[in-house]
Amino acid sequence: MNDDVFSFTESGGATENLLNSYEYLIEISQQLNSTLDLSALLHKIISAAERLTDTEAASIMLLDPKTGDLRFEITSNLNPNETDSIVVPMEGSTAGWIVQHGEPRVIEDVTKEPSHYHGVDDRLAFETRNLLGVPMRTHNKVIGVLQALNKHNDQRFNEQDIKILTTLASQAAIAIENARLFQQSDFIAEMVHELRTPLVALKASTALMLRPDLPEDRRVDIIHDMQSETERLISMTSDFLNLARLESGRAQLDKTDFDMQKLIRESVNVVQQQASDKDINVVITGGNFVVSGDRGKIKQVLLNLLTNAIKYNREKGTIAIALRPNQDQQDKSFVEVSVKDTGYGISKDNQQHMFQKFYRVANTAGFTQGTGLGLVISKHIVEAHKGAIWMESQEGVGSTFHFTLPLAQKY
Ligand SMILES: Nc1ncnc2c1ncn2[C@@H]1O[C@H](COP(=O)(O)OP(=O)(O)OP(=O)(O)O)[C@@H](O)[C@H]1O
Ligand SMILES: [Mg+2]
Repeated sequence: MNDDVFSFTESGGATENLLNSYEYLIEISQQLNSTLDLSALLHKIISAAERLTDTEAASIMLLDPKTGDLRFEITSNLNPNETDSIVVPMEGSTAGWIVQHGEPRVIEDVTKEPSHYHGVDDRLAFETRNLLGVPMRTHNKVIGVLQALNKHNDQRFNEQDIKILTTLASQAAIAIENARLFQQSDFIAEMVHELRTPLVALKASTALMLRPDLPEDRRVDIIHDMQSETERLISMTSDFLNLARLESGRAQLDKTDFDMQKLIRESVNVVQQQASDKDINVVITGGNFVVSGDRGKIKQVLLNLLTNAIKYNREKGTIAIALRPNQDQQDKSFVEVSVKDTGYGISKDNQQHMFQKFYRVANTAGFTQGTGLGLVISKHIVEAHKGAIWMESQEGVGSTFHFTLPLAQKY
C-alpha cells in the first residue's frame, strides 16, 4: 500500500515535471521567436537548455558558412569573448559527429569516450563529465549543435532530456536563422541609405547644370563634383558587393605565393600622391617574406589601411610599415604586417567598434570621405586567410593596425 502511494506520488511528480518543462518550452519558444538580437538570443537558448535538462552548463556551436568550421559561439558561466576563436574539429569530435549524422548523442562519461574533444575544456578551465548534444536543424539543414553539460546530482540523461533539448534546438535554430536574415536586411537598408547621399548630390548638380544663366567656370566645377560623386558611388557599390560575397562565403581566394614587401611597395605607389598632398612620409622596414594568399585581396587590405593612415593622419605626419615574423599562431608560420600612423588616434570607446559595418568615428567622419566598410572588408579577407587583424591606438599620438598572413610553406 505504502509502495503504491509512493509510486503514485513519484509518477505524479514526474508528470508534473514534464508538464512544467513543456510549459516552459512553449514560453521560451515564444520569447526566442520575438528576439532578433543574436547575442541576446544565444544567452536565452543556453539558459533554457540548462534549466530544461537540469545541467550545470550548456553551449552552442554554429557552422561558419564561410569556412565550414564548427565554432564555439557561447557557453554558460563563461565570457562569450573567450570562446570567440575556438574551432571544434569536424572530424573526431562529438559535435562534428552530431552535425554529420544529424542525430542527438549522449556521452555518459567523457573520460571513457575517445571521440570527446577536450580542447574547449582546456581553454575554458571547465571539466565536462557527461553531455547531451543535439543538432540544431532548420529546413533539413543542420546549422550547429546545442549541448547540455554535466547533469546535476550525478543523474543520467534520459529520453525526456533528449526530446526536450531536440525541440528547443530546432526552435533555437529557426530563431537564429531569423536573426541572421534580419541582420542581412538591416545591412541592405543601411547600404541603400549610404547610396542616397551621393545620389542626392548628383541630382542637385544636374539641376544646377540646367540653369541657363550658369557661368562657364561654375559649370566645369560642377562637372568635377559630379565626377567625384560618381566615382564614390562606384567604389561604394564595389565595397557592398565585395562584402556581400565575403559574408556569404561565396568569395573565392585565388591563392599564389608572392613577395609581401613587393606588394607593399606597389600599394604605397598607388596612394603616394594622396600622401604627398598631405606631406606625409611613408617608410617601409623589414625583410622579405613570401606569403601564400590572394594577392589582389591582400592588396585591398593594404590599400584600405594605407588610405586610412593618410586620411586620419595629420599634415606632415609619417606612416611606418613594418614586416616581421609572427609565430603566435599554431601550426603555421605567419608574417605580421603593421601600419603605424601619427594621426588623431582612436579613443578606447571607439576602438571597440572599429571593425563594425558603417562605423565611423564622429569627429573624423565630418571632414573625410568614407563608408565605414574598409576595415570590415579587411577583417573578412585576413580571416579568410586564417590570419588575424587587430589595432592599438593612443589618442593624439596615432594608431597601429596589425595583421598576419600565412607564409608560403616551402620558404
Ligand atoms: N588609422 C586610423 N586613425 C584614426 N582613425 C581611424 C584609422 N583607421 C580607421 N579609423 C576610423 O575608423 C573608421 C572606420 O574605418 P574604415 O576604413 O572601416 O572606414 P572609412 O575609412 O570610414 O570608409 P571606407 O569604407 O571608405 O574605408 C573611420 O571612419 C575612422 O573613424
Ligand atoms: Mg577606410
